[in-house]
Amino acid sequence: LPKSIFLSLTNETGMPKDGYRLKITATGISLTAIEPAGIFYGVQTLLQLFPKQIESPEIQKPVSEWTLPIVTIEDHPRFGWRGLMLDVSRHFFTVAQVKDYIDQMVKYKFNLLHLHLTDDQGWRIEIKSLPKLTEVGAWRVERTGTFGTFPKPQPGEKATYGGFYTHDDIKELVKYAAERYVNILPEIDVPGHSLAAVASYPELSCTPGEYYVSPGDRFMVWPGGGQHFYGLLDNTICPANEKAYEFLDKVFTEVAQLFPFPYIHMGGDETARNFWEKNEQIKALMQKENLKDLDEVQSYFVKRVEKIINSKGKKMIGWDEILQGGLAPNAAVMSWRGMKGGIEAAKMGHEVVMSPTDFAYIDYMQGDASIEPPVYATLRLKKAYQFEPLPEGVDAKLIKGGQANLWSEQVYNMRHAQYMTWPRAFAIAEALWSPKEKRNWNDFVPRVERHFERFEQAQVKYAPSIYDPIVTITKKDTATVVVKLETEIEGLSIHYSFDNSFPDNFYPVYKEPLMVPKEAAAIKMITYRNNKPIGRLLVIPMADLKKRAGIK
Ligand code: ACM
Repeated sequence: LPKSIFLSLTNETGMPKDGYRLKITATGISLTAIEPAGIFYGVQTLLQLFPKQIESPEIQKPVSEWTLPIVTIEDHPRFGWRGLMLDVSRHFFTVAQVKDYIDQMVKYKFNLLHLHLTDDQGWRIEIKSLPKLTEVGAWRVERTGTFGTFPKPQPGEKATYGGFYTHDDIKELVKYAAERYVNILPEIDVPGHSLAAVASYPELSCTPGEYYVSPGDRFMVWPGGGQHFYGLLDNTICPANEKAYEFLDKVFTEVAQLFPFPYIHMGGDETARNFWEKNEQIKALMQKENLKDLDEVQSYFVKRVEKIINSKGKKMIGWDEILQGGLAPNAAVMSWRGMKGGIEAAKMGHEVVMSPTDFAYIDYMQGDASIEPPVYATLRLKKAYQFEPLPEGVDAKLIKGGQANLWSEQVYNMRHAQYMTWPRAFAIAEALWSPKEKRNWNDFVPRVERHFERFEQAQVKYAPSIYDPIVTITKKDTATVVVKLETEIEGLSIHYSFDNSFPDNFYPVYKEPLMVPKEAAAIKMITYRNNKPIGRLLVIPMADLKKRAGIK
C-alpha cells in the first residue's frame, strides 16, 4: 500500500536482539525488528526524522507538508543497561512527573529508570507491614533555599513536606514504564543514608535516641583532605541488631513483589561508622563473627542483605562501597567513585554498571558557578560525552552498561530536573547506545542543538550552559586577577566589561587572558553567535574573582 507504515517482527538471523531496520522509501515506511522493543526504538528514530513540530503538545496543521528523508537505518544498542537514576527522596516527584520523565528518556532509548526511593530526607515507598515508614519517614519540615544548610526541625514544627508511592502507584509506574520498554530498578539505601527509616523505627539504630527526617540540615561532616566523613548523628541501620534483618526481610518481600525487574539495589554507599566504632553491640558482633574491622562489619551486613534479597528471587546490586571488607558472592556493583570499583568487581567475575561521578553525575553543575545553581562539583557536557563505559582489560560481558545519576538535594521541582538532565543525558544515551567509533563531539553538538529546538516545541526544559564561557581564574604576582575564557563549542565570540555595564557584541572580544583592573567591580561576560546573543550574562563580582584566584 502506498504511503503506509509497516511494523513487523521477524526471526531473521543476524539481526541483533534489540535492533531494528527502518526503511523509508518514496512509497512507504517499513520497520522490522526481532523484539517489540526493537520496533519501539525504531519508532523513536522515525519520530526524530519528522520535523520538530511533531514534539509540540498542540495538534499541527497542515501535516501534509511534512517530509521524511529517504533512508535505510540498521541500528542496535551497544549496552543492555541504559539508565537514568532519579532521586525521589531528597525531593519527591509525583507519579505523573515520573511518567513524564520516562516519556522524555525513552526518546533517547534509555531503558532503565533507577528510583532512589529512600534516604535520610524521606522514605518514598509504602511498606504495608511497616506503616510508620510512610506515616513518619515520608514527611519532613519544609525548607527552601540551599539544601544542606538548613536548620533541623524546631520543637513543635509540623512535618508537611514529602510524599510516597503506594503499592498501586508503584504498580501503575511499573506498568507505564514496561509499556515503553523501561525497567524500574528500586533502591532501598542501607545501612547508611537511613535516617528516615530510623526516625520511623528508632530501634533499628545502634544508638538509642530520638531521630527526625532530615530537612536538609548538616548532620554529616565531609572534612576533605583525605579524611573520612562522619555523622553528627547516627543515620545508620545497626548491623549488630537482629531486628534490622527482620525489618529488611519485610521491606524486600514487598519490594520484590512490586518490581518485576530481576535486580534490587541496596545502596551501601557512604556509611558513616563513627557511632559503630564505640558501640558495644558492634564490638560483640565483631567478636562473635570474627570480624577484624568496620569494613568487615559492613561487609557482614551487605552479605546478609544479599541473602535476604536472593531469598526473594532477586539479584542484589549495590554502590561500589559493597566491595569493602569483601564482596557478597552474587552481587552486582554499581561503580560511582570512578570506574575502579567496577573494574575490580568485573575482574572478580561480578556484573557491573558504570556510573562514575567524573562523567555521569548529572546533579553536578554544568557550567560556571556564577550562573548555575550551586553544587560542589562540575560536569560539563563535553566531559559527559567522553563517558566510555567499557574499560580495557575486563570481560565485556560483565559490563552491563551504565547510567547517569540525578541526585535531587538541589533539585526542588521537575522543571529543574529536566534542566539538569538535558543535554547531558544525550551524551550518556549516545555512550550507551552507539558504537564507540561513531562518537564525535563536533558531530554531536549540532545534533544537540537540533534537539534543543525539539525540546522547545515539547516545552521540556534544558540547560543552555554550552553557550556560556568556561571561566578559569588565576593570579599574576600577588594581587592581579587573571581571567582565562574558553568556549565549550566552536563559533562563539565572548564579549566582556569591567565597568558594570552590560556587554554586547560591540564590546571587546575576548582574545587572550585578561588582567582584571584593580578597581573593577565585576567582570560581566556574554557570548554571541552571528551577531546574536546566545549565552547568558555571567557576572562575577570582584570579591568572587579574588576568592577564586586565591587573593586575600
Ligand atoms: C553516591 O553518590 N553516594 C552513590
